[in-house]
Amino acid sequence: MSASFAAASAGAPDTATGTNGAAQGTASPLGGATVTTPVAAPGASTTPPVRPAHAPASLQALRGDELLIGGIPVTQLAARVGSTPFYAYDRALLRERIAVLRAALPAAVKLHYAMKANPMPAVVQFMAGLVDGIDVASAGELKVALDAGADPAEVSFAGPGKRDPELWQAVASGVLVNVESLRELPVLAEAARALGVPGRVALRVNPDFELKGSGMKMGGGPKQFGVDVEAVPELLDRIGSAGLSFEGFHLFAGSQNLRAESICEAQCKSYELALRLAAMAPGGAGSIRFLNLGGGFGIPYFPGEQRLDLAPIGANLASLVKRARQELPQAHIVIELGRYLVGEAGVYVARVVDRKVSRGQVFLVVDGGLNHHLSASGNFGQVVRKNYPVTVANRAGSTRRETASVVGPLCTPLDLLADRMDLPEAQVGDLVAVFQSGAYGASASPQGFLGHPAVVEVLV
Ligand SMILES: Cc1ncc(COP(=O)(O)O)c(C=O)c1O
Repeated sequence: MSASFAAASAGAPDTATGTNGAAQGTASPLGGATVTTPVAAPGASTTPPVRPAHAPASLQALRGDELLIGGIPVTQLAARVGSTPFYAYDRALLRERIAVLRAALPAAVKLHYAMKANPMPAVVQFMAGLVDGIDVASAGELKVALDAGADPAEVSFAGPGKRDPELWQAVASGVLVNVESLRELPVLAEAARALGVPGRVALRVNPDFELKGSGMKMGGGPKQFGVDVEAVPELLDRIGSAGLSFEGFHLFAGSQNLRAESICEAQCKSYELALRLAAMAPGGAGSIRFLNLGGGFGIPYFPGEQRLDLAPIGANLASLVKRARQELPQAHIVIELGRYLVGEAGVYVARVVDRKVSRGQVFLVVDGGLNHHLSASGNFGQVVRKNYPVTVANRAGSTRRETASVVGPLCTPLDLLADRMDLPEAQVGDLVAVFQSGAYGASASPQGFLGHPAVVEVLV
């Protein structure tokens, strides 16, 4: 944590995450929005129901009324960037998040960064120095990871539909390919033969269970990801006869889960399944070197959501590590995380270009929206749209508040960043901040849509 951040942060340590808890009241970046507010039910005389609040915006602090990002007042940061909108990612928070995870998980568990969550080259380079490996989803990501200095021995490549040239690039780079289809095997074998290098492979298995309570399920049932568990014996045979170097299994059941017990259950089931399959591996269970148990760790985006409790996950992984020492003695257990590592370290900042009132409702029109931040607009997999935590960043501590909607400049009602939220009163020229924006932001948004300028990204 940088000295300036530490000095500015008024938060007390949060025992669940080890991160800085939010300062409540006027010192909170979310102001009134973080406080659980009673809502008077019409005609009710008993205790009013409680409207769920966003989890405390624990990580960014205030100086005066102004939000600090990486210790820098947001207006100063906007001037430094030179234009809005922009994403800012905070190095100190990235480092802190990894330290917290390392403290909670057994030392023997390898931590991989799934760079699909945030592929900004400076972020990947920074993360490469902190984690044990990088997971890439394309040859494009592979290039960024290798340019960032990632050790190819600790890079793995997963994704359905890997093109032949991508498979050749992976073999030539010496990275581990998580095979997801029979089709990939002859291509990998030919590349390894032609290049005279080992073709390092693991099998991505589509398990016969799913990650319960997950925002996005990626295993169980019919899926385009991985190889159905029923087909694994045949693929293991083929891998052996193709002369590829088999290293282990990859099981990824789902993403964005806030329930520790569901994650633990999926990890246990994944381990048991891998153990059963390992007996059929070309070199037997003793030859398994890589056991990727997936990830799925979520972050709180919406009102009512609580931070994931790492303690039971750490305890569960410790017991699996202990078992693996006996049952899969060569295996390294890996977990791969994207949003959990980077999501809370990023803020999206856009400038208010207009303030309109339509039939009594206040609209703050800002200079970027779903074209830069599809997920905050609710159009990236949300079933029912909910607000990300949002504030008016240069007035975040102000007690003058109003209900307003924040919309982008696109001519579609989908371009909505905040729907009737309690916000500090804003004027044209003010800066709106969307928290929890470090993952699936710029690279997961349709930046070409309607020809507005591309968003800038900075690491501070
Ligand atoms: C194979 C794989 N690994 C890792 C991730 C990262 O998930 P998250 O960012 O939720 O941690 C995904 C997400 O889709 C994935 O498909």
